[in-house]
Parts: sequence; structure tokens; C-alpha cells
Amino acid sequence: MTSETSFWHPFSDMAQVRGHEFVIERGEGSYVWDVGGKKYFDGTASLWCVNVGHGRHEIADAARAQMDTLATYQTFGGFANKPVLELADRLAASAQPIVDDPKVFFGLGGGDAIETAAKLARRYFAATGQPERVHIIGRTQGYHGTHGIGTSIGGIAANQVGMGPVDPAVSSVPWDSLEALEAEFERVGPDKVAAVFAEPVIGAGGVHRVPPGYLQGLAALCTKHGALFIADCVIAAFGRLGTMWGVDRFDLRPDMMTFAKGVTSGYLPLGGVVISGRIAEPFWEGDGLWFRHGQTYSGHPTCCAAALANLDIIENEGLLQRGRELEDEIASALSPLESADVVDQARAGIGALGAVSFKPELLADHADLPLRTFAAAKERGVLVRPLGDGVAISPSLVTTEKDLEDASAALTDALAAVASSL
Ligand SMILES: Cc1ncc(COP(=O)(O)O)c(C=O)c1O
Repeated sequence: MTSETSFWHPFSDMAQVRGHEFVIERGEGSYVWDVGGKKYFDGTASLWCVNVGHGRHEIADAARAQMDTLATYQTFGGFANKPVLELADRLAASAQPIVDDPKVFFGLGGGDAIETAAKLARRYFAATGQPERVHIIGRTQGYHGTHGIGTSIGGIAANQVGMGPVDPAVSSVPWDSLEALEAEFERVGPDKVAAVFAEPVIGAGGVHRVPPGYLQGLAALCTKHGALFIADCVIAAFGRLGTMWGVDRFDLRPDMMTFAKGVTSGYLPLGGVVISGRIAEPFWEGDGLWFRHGQTYSGHPTCCAAALANLDIIENEGLLQRGRELEDEIASALSPLESADVVDQARAGIGALGAVSFKPELLADHADLPLRTFAAAKERGVLVRPLGDGVAISPSLVTTEKDLEDASAALTDALAAVASSL
């Protein structure tokens, strides 16, 4: 058996991918170019993450300068480095209106952040006399990465198939029902629930904005039952929802917020958790209690230096505000697509993300509609993300209205081509 590539792609059918890899070579702003020199509108900002756009030399320069000074060092025990200290303080200061007396724990991406938050929730209750509180509730359509606990609490069923037993102390409730969540607290036993995880806007599960009042109701149920509310802001933060943290759109006060992606705009891997002082207290004020968790690259100086340069760009160029504006512009770009024969709904998210879903009766016969649409759009120079019942867009925050108008025209054409191919 010959193999055209040795690279095993994540989330891929390698039998299809091998020999047909789509090699991206260069990026600038909201556009990328493949190795053949063809230009594409990066409608997905890689995976919801290149918030400041491609080709930002400021970030490369900051990473380079840090590498020249101290490329890497661990932060276990008392070790620290300048960029991690500055970044933790900067993130804590910006989180202060949302999370009381915030502390920041770093890992290398969203999956690490989820694992950290879940383990810390359990460890906190074990340390404060409620060791039976270990249960974690997630939501259908939720996506929290592919590490152990993240896989277990994820609400996209296919991601658990054949992976062996998931964490036994987790369960899932319909993503938009407070009644179901209340019932789940009762079923599990309210004093056994450690935490509920929720994305402010469901991303990888298909771009679903929650019903009005849902998140506030979820937070209130957590408070009522003494469980922690963990907001998964891995997509939502750093401008994607038009604010620094995403949850600030909903007037929420979570016990923890996970972040990744936009913190470096994906230029280098970084993620983490903002933790309220109340949860940190037994570890920060206690008598020898450790959180025995962390990675070799937690607080990696070069990644943190890249994050600081990225946050400067977001601040200096008003990209939080731009995320808000894009909300309407994306809605306007997607709404004409609703008249395409194959389309059921144009779903604008809150912030700079949206999706179109396909008619369920067509999807029943053609499960590959999202993939076909991806291919037709790609042919026309636009990258969209096939997921669930449709395709999603989440472009960089430097995207212009004109970029979106052009993308909308290309997608209209792509959807017509897909319809006629059925
Ligand atoms: C809401 C959310 N949480 C967690 C993750 C996992 O992040 P990572 O892929 O960096 O592990 C993702 C990734 O898309 C995500 O969208």
C-alpha cells in the first residue's frame, strides 16, 4: 500500500484525504492562498480563531523577540517568565467585571482548558468538604474539544462513538431547555453536581444562539443548586461575539471561563481558564493544597508574548467593536442565501459567526450536502466549514463588508450548483 502523505489529519476520512490534501501556503488579512497560488476568502478564520487576520508581522516580531530572549521555560512550582505574568494580569484585569478576583491558569488550547476547568471544579469541591460533587452536565450540540472530559461532555454524539467508556460522571441535556436542566439536577441529585458547561453561542455544533434568558437561567440554576457555572468561551472570547469575553453580552458572572483560539488569533497554541477568587481560595490561601495539574508548556513564554501582541492589535484597531458590526453584516450576507433551493435557514449567531442549514428532507437523502457545499464554495474561492446540518462562517474581524458581499455572491452561485447536482 502506498501512501501519498504521512500526515494523519484530525477529524478526517484519510481514505478520501490521502492524495487530495488542500495545502495552504500563505495568508494575508481575511484571505489565504494555496500552493497553486489560488486565493480564497478565509470564511472560517481557520477554526474560528484568526481574529486579527493573517500575516500580522507584529505577532511574528513579538514571538521572534521572545524566542531570542527566552524561547521556552516551564512554570511548575515557583517558576515564571515575564510574558506569562504580564498576560495573566492583563487577562485578569479585563475579566474583573465578569469574574470576581480572577486568577488565570494556562494550557495549550481549548481542550486543555476544558480539562483544567473540569478537574478544578471537582478538586475544589473535594477540598471544601463536598467530595460527592463530581457530576458534570453538558448540552446537546455542545463542543468542548477532544480530550477525555471534553469528549465525555460534548454533545455531538458521533465524537464519542467507538472511543470506549466516557467519563461515568457526566450527562447531557437539550441545549436550549432550562426545564431539562432543572430535571437533570433532580435526577442526578443537586448535591452531586460539580459544574455545568455551556458555550455562550454553540459553535461547532452548528451555530445556535440560545433562547433569550436561557444562559441567565442556567447560571441561576447553578447558583440555586451550589454547582459551578463554567462558560466555555473558547470561540466566544476576544471579539468573536463583539466583546472581550463573549459572556459579557449576556450579563453573566460565571465561576470559570475557558479561553483559547482568539487569545493568540491562533498564531501560536495557547489556552486557559479564568477562575474566580472563591474557587481559587482553598489553593491560594490554604495550607499546602496543590492543584496537581498542568502541562510542560503551561505559561509558555513565546506563546504568551504572541498573545500580548495579538491583544494589542485587538485593542488598537477596535476589533471588539468590529466583531459587533460584523454581526449585522454577516446576517445581511447570509440572508439572501435563504432563497437557495437547498437552504432551510440562514442562522446568524450573536457576533461574527453564522451558518446556513439545509432542508431536512434533502439532507435525509444527501447527507453529504455540507461537504458538497464546501467543495462548490472552495471552487469559487470561499472557504466555509461543513458542520452538522449546514455550513458555517466565522471570518476574521478584519473582514470588510465588501469581502462579505463577494463571499455571499460566490456562495449563492455555489448553492445553485449544489442544487443542480442533486
Ligand atoms: C467551544 C469550544 N471549546 C473547546 C474547544 C477545543 O479547543 P481545541 O481544539 O483548541 O482543543 C473548541 C474547539 O473548537 C470549541 O469550539
